[in-house]
Amino acid sequence: MWKLCVCLCVFAWCLHAMPLRKNNSLGCNKLLLVSFDGFRWDYDRDVETPHLDQMAVDGVKAPYVTPAFFTMTSPTHFTILTGKYIENHGVIHNMWFNTSTTEKKPYYQTQFVNEWWDNGSLPIWITAQRQGLQAGSLHFPGTASTYDGEKAVVSEVEPRFYNYSNETAWQQNIDKILGVWFTEKKLDFVSLYFGEPDSTGHKYGPDSDQRREMVKQVDRTVGYLRTSVENNNLTQCLNIIITADHGMTTVHRGSGVNEIVLYKIPGFSFQDLDFHLVDYGPSGLLLPKEGRLEKVYNALKGAHPHLHVYKKEEMPPRLHFGKNDRILPIILWADLGYVINGYFPVQTNKGEHGFDNGDMDMKPFFRAVGPAFRKNLIVEPFETVHIYSLMCHLLGITPDPNDGHLNATRAMLLSSEERGSADNNNSIMTRVFIGFGAVSGFLLIVFVVVVTHSIIKRRKQIQRAVTCEKSDSDDKKQTSF
Ligand SMILES: *[C@@H]1O[C@H](CO)[C@@H](O)[C@H](O)[C@H]1NC(C)=O
Ligand SMILES: *[C@@H]1O[C@H](CO)[C@@H](O)[C@H](O)[C@H]1NC(C)=O
Ligand SMILES: *[C@@H]1O[C@H](CO)[C@@H](O)[C@H](O)[C@H]1NC(C)=O
Ligand SMILES: *[C@@H]1O[C@H](CO)[C@@H](O)[C@H](O)[C@H]1NC(C)=O
Ligand SMILES: *[C@@H]1O[C@H](CO)[C@@H](O)[C@H](O)[C@H]1NC(C)=O
Ligand SMILES: *[C@@H]1O[C@H](CO)[C@@H](O)[C@H](O)[C@H]1NC(C)=O
Ligand SMILES: *[C@@H]1O[C@H](CO)[C@@H](O)[C@H](O)[C@H]1NC(C)=O
Ligand SMILES: [Zn+2]
Repeated sequence: MWKLCVCLCVFAWCLHAMPLRKNNSLGCNKLLLVSFDGFRWDYDRDVETPHLDQMAVDGVKAPYVTPAFFTMTSPTHFTILTGKYIENHGVIHNMWFNTSTTEKKPYYQTQFVNEWWDNGSLPIWITAQRQGLQAGSLHFPGTASTYDGEKAVVSEVEPRFYNYSNETAWQQNIDKILGVWFTEKKLDFVSLYFGEPDSTGHKYGPDSDQRREMVKQVDRTVGYLRTSVENNNLTQCLNIIITADHGMTTVHRGSGVNEIVLYKIPGFSFQDLDFHLVDYGPSGLLLPKEGRLEKVYNALKGAHPHLHVYKKEEMPPRLHFGKNDRILPIILWADLGYVINGYFPVQTNKGEHGFDNGDMDMKPFFRAVGPAFRKNLIVEPFETVHIYSLMCHLLGITPDPNDGHLNATRAMLLSSEERGSADNNNSIMTRVFIGFGAVSGFLLIVFVVVVTHSIIKRRKQIQRAVTCEKSDSDDKKQTSF
């Protein structure tokens, strides 16, 4: 009896203490990563953004985050997906290029060059899938490529010449991800990309009314997303991270501006180069002809007050943009507000990014909300290289080797005890059922044991009585019954 009792108690305790590891109490633990391209950290300062403000009240906000350098779309997004600095993941530019053939592919076409993206680092989609989860991606940079032969099980790449600004299409994509991908297709992780406010920031500049209008559109979309989360009953299941790849700054224009035009720099000649990537915002990469590196370097170094010129091996370590075979021997970037032109000033964008990631204008925003996050908390700024560790932690998967650490974002998470008690509240029915089951099982067994025991006892007594009757014939006849 006692052994049985102890066993039952241990069993019941085990059930109760069993950690609800990957799934939370509702049998779900999902994560949505959203990127609004080029959403600078302070874009909510000169526009009413009620939904972003509400998200900060319901969750976590960082004043800003620091992207990787070059602060360029594909490289910085791949840092978010891998937790590695650009020199360590290899997607060093928006453009694929071959220095032997001098061929270049623009942003959109580069999406489809597997060898460019798949350079030894797995994005979180693949890592999650290899650990039993299901991932999806919509329009996120890197979605079109395969990695070690794999891609996200559900993926959608935008068509060529896609209009990235259509609010109706944004809402349809949100409906699809929340109403189909997370629910019907039962995905655990989805990355979702919006091409704004980057396009508007480039075209009209970050201080334009058009940019402010686009930030309102982003804010409405965040409101639409959160309502859709509620309507799909995903509030207790879904953690949401909303951030961006980089910021945006106004390009200096006008007659008084000392434009950077490489062709005009004394002693510099394109004849000394085998290959170059310039006329692409404020950054540049040069491959001098054999034996001409010093000549090119000496001509450019110090030639313009707003031009930074570095040999690859002399790059400041803080920028993490040197140690990769794809990075060309000479790296250029301009001070905030300047762009690097080759032969003529051909660039017409009013806004640009690609500058030093220490410049405040290059820093994006960061918001997070969901069952794992604290509420109404403003955390210290951190580098976007750490978002990967945070996402792996939220999904309950083991991260691949990377340059980030959960330490950088741990303060925004509810502790396991706090989550435990939150889980207890949420899963009260589950607990009640387990407890009820254990207690009734225990009672049933006790009942059976007691009944059996007493039947056996009664039988024995009857038998003994009969035996007694036989041996002790007359004396105990009356006392036995
Ligand atoms: C999590 O919940 C889903 C759906 O309820 C279920 O299919 C899956 O097996 C659960 N996973 C774990 C690790 O319990
Ligand atoms: C560049 O093109 C050359 C010539 O076609 C080819 O041999 C080489 O493998 C290419 N390199 C890369 C990195 O694609
Ligand atoms: C990364 O790409 C470079 C060429 O751009 C290539 O030499 C190298 O082998 C690639 N590494 C991996 C692991 O794919
Ligand atoms: C994209 O769509 C929006 C409306 O959704 C429209 O206002 C805008 O002009 C379109 N842009 C282009 C380049 O067609
Ligand atoms: C915006 O997207 C919706 C839905 O995809 C489409 O019906 C509409 O024609 C688009 N508008 C523009 C201006 O492209
Ligand atoms: C959400 O839950 C409510 C109440 O349980 C239910 O009526 C509704 O159909 C659910 N919605 C979805 C999309 O599952
Ligand atoms: C993370 O934080 C813990 C506790 O504060 C500390 O012991 C550990 O060294 C930190 N790890 C890194 C990589 O910073
Ligand atoms: Zn971008």
